Amino acid sequence: MGTPDTDQPHPARIYDYLLGGAFNFAADRAFAEQIIATMPGAPLAARINRDFLRRAVQAAVADGVDQFLDLGSGIPTVGNTHEVAPAARVVYVDHDAIAVAHSRDVLAGHPDATIVAADIRDADTVLTAARELIDFSRPVAVLAVAVLHFVPDAEATLAPYRAAIGPGSLIAISHATHDAEPGVEQARRMYESRGMPGFARTKAEVTALLDGLTLLPPGVVWTSRWRPEADDDIEPTASLAYAAVGRVP
Ligand SMILES: C[S@@+](CC[C@H](N)C(=O)[O-])C[C@H]1O[C@@H](n2cnc3c(N)ncnc32)[C@H](O)[C@@H]1O
Repeated sequence: MGTPDTDQPHPARIYDYLLGGAFNFAADRAFAEQIIATMPGAPLAARINRDFLRRAVQAAVADGVDQFLDLGSGIPTVGNTHEVAPAARVVYVDHDAIAVAHSRDVLAGHPDATIVAADIRDADTVLTAARELIDFSRPVAVLAVAVLHFVPDAEATLAPYRAAIGPGSLIAISHATHDAEPGVEQARRMYESRGMPGFARTKAEVTALLDGLTLLPPGVVWTSRWRPEADDDIEPTASLAYAAVGRVP
């Protein structure tokens, strides 16, 4: 993981800035402002995504799941998984040193939650560490929320986690798409040009990530439409992403 290069923008800190957080640096803020100039809806999309994470965790708890593997968990902000599911065991995973350091601070004194500093593509390392806290013979919710669009092969990344979990387990995904908003492709190129490759995917590609799982209602939808809590007037495409939760049959 090493010392973070705070002169380079990083997705974890850009997202923190978009959410109004305080754990970001000048380079992250400058880049985030460029993204906002291209895609003024980016902060709203970040909030919609974060709200989905909470609703997905609540749905998992309602489903009787009390163990979470939160891949690409990010810089702790409001509504972290262990706060939404206080009785659960939670393993957070991130490869950003700042996200890991702040997660360690936030989790001090929480014996049932931990952070693993790892690349989620290194599933062996992640799963070995996760097994210290999570019992994979019981249902687990794997959260891959707003992270798979940072990996080139999302299916291959997810496969070992899918193989590690058993019946009744869940996989929750949100994933950026350029299906409706051309600015997403422009933003993707801006991320890429600063060394942060991104991979927006179509609805069909996002749906394929949960192949073989039983999709919980309402299926694969714009993120704001996944079990919305109130009749909001947000245009669904403002999510800039799809969301879904699948259950292992
Ligand atoms: C947009 S944030 C999402 C945070 C949180 N999951 C949420 O939805 O609120 C994406 C996070 O994924 C992390 N990330 C991206 N690629 C990763 C990888 N290959 N391995 C581990 N973490 C990764 C970033 O560091 C960042 O913290």
